Amino acid sequence: MNASEFKAKYVLDTTLICREDVEARIVELAEQINIDYAGKEILLVGILRGSVMFMSELSKSITLDMAMDFMDVSSYGDDIKSSCNVKILKDLDESIEGANVIIVEDIIDSGNTLSYLKEFMIDRCVASLKIVTLLDKPEGRTADIEADYVGFKIPNEFVVGYGLDVAQHYRNLPYIATVKVLK
Ligand code: IMP
Ligand code: MG
Repeated sequence: MNASEFKAKYVLDTTLICREDVEARIVELAEQINIDYAGKEILLVGILRGSVMFMSELSKSITLDMAMDFMDVSSYGDDIKSSCNVKILKDLDESIEGANVIIVEDIIDSGNTLSYLKEFMIDRCVASLKIVTLLDKPEGRTADIEADYVGFKIPNEFVVGYGLDVAQHYRNLPYIATVKVLK
C-alpha cells in the first residue's frame, strides 16, 4: 500500500491511552515482575515488531539479571482482521532450554499468536513461561489463553501507537490511539 492509498483508507481517531498513563503502567508491570522473579534470571522474548517500544521501556525498569531475544511471527497482513495462520518469520537466536521466559507482546486479540508461541516455547523445555502484554482485547478472544501481566484491557477496536501499527504506520506514536477505516 503506498502513502496516498494509506491516507485514503486510515485516519487517526481518538487518543485511548495517553503517554503518561502508558509509561506509568509499564513501570508498574516491571515492578511486579521484579517482585515475582526476585533472585532469578529472566529472558524477555519480544515478538517483533509491535513489542519493541514496550519491551525497551519495560526492560529499563527491570532490575533483575536479564537477557533479551526476539521472534518475528505474522498473523496479519496489511489488514486489520485476524487470521489463524501464524508464520515464523524469525526464530530465536539462542536456546531457551531451562530459561525463565517472559513473552513480551504488544496486544492480545484472538490469542492465536500467543497460543502458538506458548506451545512452541514449552516444546523447547523452558523452566518457566509467562506472558506480559501491553494491551488486551478480551472481546476478540477465540483461543483459550490469558496473559500473566496486562497493561490495559481495551475495547474491541483497532489501535495504533507505542509500537502497534496499521500497515506499518504509526508505530512511533508515544501514546495509544484508535484508527478509523474510511473505506
Ligand atoms: P492475535 O493473534 O489475534 O491475538 O493477534 C495478535 C497480534 O495481532 C498482535 O501481536 C498485533 O501484532 C496484531 N494486532 C491485534 N490487534 C491489533 C490492533 O488493534 N492494532 C495493531 N495490531 C493488532
Ligand atoms: Mg504482534
